Amino acid sequence: MLAKTLGVAAAALLAFSASSLAADIAAGKRVAVRCASCHSFAEGKNELGPSLFGVVGRKAGAMANFAYSPAMKNSAIVWTADNLDAYLGGPKALVLGNHMGYQGVTKEGDRADLIAYLATLK
Ligand code: HEC
Repeated sequence: MLAKTLGVAAAALLAFSASSLAADIAAGKRVAVRCASCHSFAEGKNELGPSLFGVVGRKAGAMANFAYSPAMKNSAIVWTADNLDAYLGGPKALVLGNHMGYQGVTKEGDRADLIAYLATLK
């Protein structure tokens, strides 16, 4: 009886860790609410921050009509999933002197979900 209960618990745990590894677009959309005070997700629409539509695969500092910091403009970064993960984990660390006044998304799983969502905006 106990062994059976433990078996069920272990199976539940495995199912949980498997699902937490896969990026979840719907969950990422909820994380993206944290960006919406400064960023629009609509094409070409800059606000306090540049539009995040099509950001995955875009060169940093490339939106026309947005006044980027020199640090961002000259960073020569392309927003791959890896670079986005590093930037969103610590905005000040990846692009020294950039102007994004945001402390970052601390949870790795949240960042993975968020980047999966951003990748759908194209
Ligand atoms: C307080 C406002 C603010 C918040 C909140 C914010 N950002 Fe930003 N973000 C900015 C600003 C301003 C810039 C431009 C930085 C620069 O030019 O140095 C920027 C730049 C960026 C860039 C670079 C885009 C490009 O075109 O090169 C990305 C990517 C980005 N933000 C993603 C995010 C994401 C994802 C979130 C939410 C988790 C977020 N930001 C939250 C203000 C914000």
